[in-house]
Amino acid sequence: MERVNQILKNQVFSEQLKKLSRLEQGRIYCGHGIDHLLAVARIAYIKTLEEGLPFQKDIIYAAALLHDVGRAAQYETGIPHDQAGALLAETILSECGFDAAEREEILTAIRGHRDRTKAGGTPLGLLIYEADKRSRACFACQAQDTCDWPMEKKNYSIRR
Ligand SMILES: [Fe+2]
Ligand SMILES: [Fe+2]
Repeated sequence: MERVNQILKNQVFSEQLKKLSRLEQGRIYCGHGIDHLLAVARIAYIKTLEEGLPFQKDIIYAAALLHDVGRAAQYETGIPHDQAGALLAETILSECGFDAAEREEILTAIRGHRDRTKAGGTPLGLLIYEADKRSRACFACQAQDTCDWPMEKKNYSIRR
């Protein structure tokens, strides 16, 4: 997990997280800070263990930590965060020692994490997509009446 811990200390990553926490202050809907990123990582890893899926722990954690790294850019520029995030994640992953094949696997998952059909293109993308949705406690959300998530994405039970 050394490379994953390098992501936490990476300058680009921590700058984006700080910026995002300012931008999401006062947001009534789900946030995208470190609690969310770790929830996605852990749910994806639990599913991997339960179902015997062929993913390495550090690849899951890297993809989960970085899947929303483009959120601040989306708020500031309107570029969708899957696209903005893949660009930022490329730099971060290189700086943290992920090789070209690993980077491609993680970046494809980041680019596809918002769309089940696109995400379905790669197994890691689908894993992150599902864990991302499952991480949200819609059943306890005060803002569910005005949340723009369609009903089929909303989460009304706990599985992991
Ligand atoms: Fe996202
Ligand atoms: Fe997310």
